[in-house]
Amino acid sequence: MTAIGTPQAGNNLDPWYHHYAERAAALRASEVRALFAVASRPEVVSLAGGMPYVAALPQDLVMNALENVMRKQGPVALQYGSGQGVPLFREQILEVMALEGIRANADDVVVTTGSQHALELVSKLFLDPGDVVISEGPSYVTAMVIFKSYQADVDHVPMDDQGMIPEALREHIARLKAAGRTIKFLYTIPSFHNPAGVTLSWARRLEILEIARENQILVLEDNPYGLLYFDQKAPDAMRSVERDGVIYLGTFSKTLAPGFRVGWALAPHAIREKLVLANEAAVLSPSSFSQLVISEYLATADWKGQINTFRGVYRERKNAMLSALAEYLPELTWTNPNGGFYVWLNLPETLDSKAMLPRAVKELVAYTPGTAFFADGQGRQNIRLSFCYPTPEHIRLGIRRLATVVRDELELLDTFAGTGSLSPAHDGRRFGAPPPDIN
Ligand SMILES: Cc1ncc(COP(=O)(O)O)c(C=O)c1O
Repeated sequence: MTAIGTPQAGNNLDPWYHHYAERAAALRASEVRALFAVASRPEVVSLAGGMPYVAALPQDLVMNALENVMRKQGPVALQYGSGQGVPLFREQILEVMALEGIRANADDVVVTTGSQHALELVSKLFLDPGDVVISEGPSYVTAMVIFKSYQADVDHVPMDDQGMIPEALREHIARLKAAGRTIKFLYTIPSFHNPAGVTLSWARRLEILEIARENQILVLEDNPYGLLYFDQKAPDAMRSVERDGVIYLGTFSKTLAPGFRVGWALAPHAIREKLVLANEAAVLSPSSFSQLVISEYLATADWKGQINTFRGVYRERKNAMLSALAEYLPELTWTNPNGGFYVWLNLPETLDSKAMLPRAVKELVAYTPGTAFFADGQGRQNIRLSFCYPTPEHIRLGIRRLATVVRDELELLDTFAGTGSLSPAHDGRRFGAPPPDIN
């Protein structure tokens, strides 16, 4: 007889292995996770993570806001709140979005536990097994984890240095429709893309919205980095010209601090109601405490000045990374982001960024292999380099170490196969080969 709670079948590592829902299969630790544990040692220069440099935020600003909140409305801050978010705070979010051309009603804003949670809620509302989400190729890794956990397929549309290529989008939609697939939404990061670092031009924003409209495809616009530009502002948000067909996601993670875990969705009115219900079902209410502290910060601190400070920090780091790349790896190509956190590097055709990572970590530099950002195995000749967290000196050191790794690897290939050459896999204009059919 089997005791209650004793699993019927499993394996040695996890006795409950056969009990998981099918969707849990997508929740796998990345293959490079163990290496990243090593890469977090202080002697390793990590160009891998996307952590904002929160040390550039004066602690006093947060302490003042926190103290005021506790003094003025402590019991409210410590209590459950509305499933949609604090009304005054939602009004203030409108001011933040206005900086990117968005005019909206606070009633259509839903506060979430970071924009990551908004991605989860939208996916929960829209995705059935077998649906398709169209996204740029490459795309944000943890959004794809969510889409796949709802058993949707991700179809990557290629991009170049102007962002997603509209003509390719038309082709993909036509092909998917011809195959009888259901496209649920188009997920895009138009400004200072993670991981590609590029920005969708204004003309393309309009064209892509037009294509989405023609084909009745909802657009999910994810914009965590838009306000972190260096020299030139990004074009206005896609949501600024399309109200009914766009769900817009924003966050305080990059312009303030991710520890608050506060983001938001601005949704067409009908969808907003469902989003609030999904939010309540998941968390009852987003953190009252975090919302009130950020609300106080927005009301009393020079938050626009603070965003300027962040811009200066990241601009300096991006410049350090690009000049180190030009000095140590001049034969390769890379993107030149005008904001955000990331540079996308093209490797020579013979190299494999994932296979090279253990050697890089041994040489005390870490990066994220391009394969992490594709759902279909592309990206072996690409690397995402983050310049947000390490100091300019560390960035230089990291790129110098990376150059050594690249040259050693090529030398090895040349010795054994005669294939070592330092020219990049492609001209760097178009990222990744056309994706294989997902049908
Ligand atoms: C493109 C993109 N979307 C969403 C997120 C999630 O941000 P958060 O949940 O901290 O708001 C990130 C974080 O790096 C991101 O890069």
